[in-house]
Amino acid sequence: MALFPTYTRVPVRVASGSGSILLDEDGKRYLDFTSGLGVCNLGHCHTAVTTAVEAQLRQLWHVSNLFHIPLQEQVADLLVQASGLGAVFFCNSGAEANEAAIKLARKYAREKRGIERPIILTFRKSFHGRTLATLTATGQDKVKTGFDPLPEGFVYATYNDLGSVEEALTPDVAGVFLELVQGEGGVRPADPAFVEGLARLCADKGVLLMVDEVQTGIGRTGKLFACEHYGIVPDIMTLAKGLGNGMPVGAMLAKAEYAGVFGPGSHASTFGGNPLAMAAARAVLTEMKQSDVLSRAAEHGTWLITRLKEKLEGRPGVVEVRGLGLMIGIELNQPVAQVIEAARQRGLLVSPAGPQVVRLLPPLVTERTQLEEAVDILTAALEEVEKGESVSGVGHGGRI
Ligand SMILES: Cc1ncc(COP(=O)(O)O)c(C=O)c1O
Repeated sequence: MALFPTYTRVPVRVASGSGSILLDEDGKRYLDFTSGLGVCNLGHCHTAVTTAVEAQLRQLWHVSNLFHIPLQEQVADLLVQASGLGAVFFCNSGAEANEAAIKLARKYAREKRGIERPIILTFRKSFHGRTLATLTATGQDKVKTGFDPLPEGFVYATYNDLGSVEEALTPDVAGVFLELVQGEGGVRPADPAFVEGLARLCADKGVLLMVDEVQTGIGRTGKLFACEHYGIVPDIMTLAKGLGNGMPVGAMLAKAEYAGVFGPGSHASTFGGNPLAMAAARAVLTEMKQSDVLSRAAEHGTWLITRLKEKLEGRPGVVEVRGLGLMIGIELNQPVAQVIEAARQRGLLVSPAGPQVVRLLPPLVTERTQLEEAVDILTAALEEVEKGESVSGVGHGGRI
């Protein structure tokens, strides 16, 4: 196999997908509670998205941002209407959206606040991507090891601890960048009081409030953006994963007043916002707006968290079930590899979020009966591991 061994792969050779179901090359059925790591929020091969991309494939693929792309303008309008923000920059991934956010915050701080060397404050246990700037923004040493020298200009505070933010908020801080539910760091929702205090602090000090919604955005938490749960409109928001439902697309949104900071030549992406990606994103956003997918996701998320708490909390191996909408973590008191493998053998695919948290990211369209099936499988998998009957975990213990 001529691939870099950068991933510990699950022993499943995926052949096709529909809704919440994946089939492997031998026709074995899996209930997919990974959604391609929070990407296929509308399920695999969603009809409206597939139809839109198929039509676009025959019309126009790519022209570059030298030209006006009407579809790109329409998707930007949909995002602006939904978010209350004013301007959108399109790119291809979460890390790229976060790079754009960091660059915008730095440039704004230099031009408007006269800060010579602007700093971005992020949080311990956060995850913002794998490029040099975004892995430096990430508050986890494991993603940084081996990549020195790292870019300057980042400081870290403790999540859900306003005092720690106040301490780190020196006059050269341009922006505070956070996930409203830390995903890779273990599915940890922010406390509403913390977010409220943080928003007030940022507003008082003229510091930009920057929200990484790469994983929480596009319905994952039961609202289009997790910001809506907290009643905040950030200065900058980043999106990727669910925006194209599998078509690679990322976006950086900001309040209209910051649009002029990114003038011609200040930032660019060859593929960003190309017609194929935009056809997928328009179909996704239209579906989210016109169907009941968001309200169902909220309802199903509440049901699933409650059911998992009833069934699993109190078991010897389980520390806590937590989450928001359909972004759910089950924290164990041991590494998760064996439970993930035992679930896989029973036909349920889940992923880890850190060493001791099993993460559930089912497609938002998952049926109630499929949620019930997953609860039964997870209960049986935990029982098996607690009894010590499980085969030793095959791979999948670290970040995939
Ligand atoms: C919150 C968050 N930000 C950024 C990223 C990086 O996104 P990408 O892998 O598309 O670069 C991720 C990916 O898991 C993420 O969860």
